[in-house]
Amino acid sequence: MSAIVLPTLEDTHAFGRRLAALLRAGDLLVLNGPLGAGKTALVQGIGAGLGVRGTVVSPTFVIARVHQGPLPLVHVDAYRLGSLDEVDDLDLDVDVADAVTAVEWGEGKVEQLTDSRLEILLARDPSSDARELTLVPHGGDWAARIASLPA
Ligand SMILES: Nc1ncnc2c1ncn2[C@@H]1O[C@H](COP(=O)(O)OP(=O)(O)OP(=O)(O)O)[C@@H](O)[C@H]1O
Ligand SMILES: [Mg+2]
Repeated sequence: MSAIVLPTLEDTHAFGRRLAALLRAGDLLVLNGPLGAGKTALVQGIGAGLGVRGTVVSPTFVIARVHQGPLPLVHVDAYRLGSLDEVDDLDLDVDVADAVTAVEWGEGKVEQLTDSRLEILLARDPSSDARELTLVPHGGDWAARIASLPA
């Protein structure tokens, strides 16, 4: 899929809200991109779109945070984790099969958790605030789902 340009923070939040409309229980989102690329900002938009409770902030010091809601959101920061063989190891008070799980810095660490996942790449434009977002579907029906992304 071609890159989507997100000129401002608000655009990144808005894209997250649109993406949330496609999500269902058991989904795994793997967010990759350098420091400050906007991974957490995107998850904030997703959380808003899902209507979950609590403010989505960087989970850096807690590894994972659960936001309860109609479709709960599990927000994981894998930066300090080696591979994550089982999300169960995080001892969350939600079953990931019933939630959407969004993992920052998950590349190479979480792929074994599910048969399918949506990889989200974020890149910074060095000369502006714009972020470039690329969706990479892996398995499942992700390709069809992102093709139907609401405008
Ligand atoms: N177009 C944009 N999209 C997203 N964030 C933007 C944009 N323009 C500016 N920003 C700013 O960039 C920063 C993005 O920070 P954020 O915490 O979302 O990044 P991150 O990828 O999660 O970083 P980390 O690797 O530290 O977790 C915020 O301070 C935000 O205000
Ligand atoms: Mg972050």
